[in-house]
Amino acid sequence: METITVLAEGKKEKYEELFPQLQALAGDERDLIANMANISAALKATFPVFSWVGFYRMQKGELVLGPFQGKVACVRIKIGNGVCGTAAKERRTIIVPDVDGFPGHIACDPDSRSEIVVPLTSSGHLLGVLDVDSDKLNSFDQIDRFYLEKIAEMILQEIYQSNTED
Ligand code: SME
Repeated sequence: METITVLAEGKKEKYEELFPQLQALAGDERDLIANMANISAALKATFPVFSWVGFYRMQKGELVLGPFQGKVACVRIKIGNGVCGTAAKERRTIIVPDVDGFPGHIACDPDSRSEIVVPLTSSGHLLGVLDVDSDKLNSFDQIDRFYLEKIAEMILQEIYQSNTED
């Protein structure tokens, strides 16, 4: 049975406890969709302040909704649009402390107040983004950035390995 247990209280401590469990869960699995699905579920369950956690994948030049946890969301986002499209275009993590202050923010979920988007890049290719929303302002900081980038890197390593070994 696959389970994730995080007992720590602090944010950093929670990520520290969660990360090796994600590695155990996704480390031997090369299916990107399966790993995205479990990582979305694990992050949402670990951090009650995360109201939406999910992935958009690059498909024919635009971002297309992938595995997620939360309310139904916009299916397609053009590169350069919204927080996700901007993070994808600029290939950098974007933290939005107040979504009302981000011009062009796409309000998939009206409850969303703050957001972080991490691009997924492997060998110079953009594969998609990891998007986390919160229903509270100012929910994301450099700790989230560090660990979410680390999680993104971990699942992409699997992709890289499977592309080179198969
Ligand atoms: N708010 C995002 C759209 C995706 S949803 O939040 C799930 C954006 O501005 O790109």
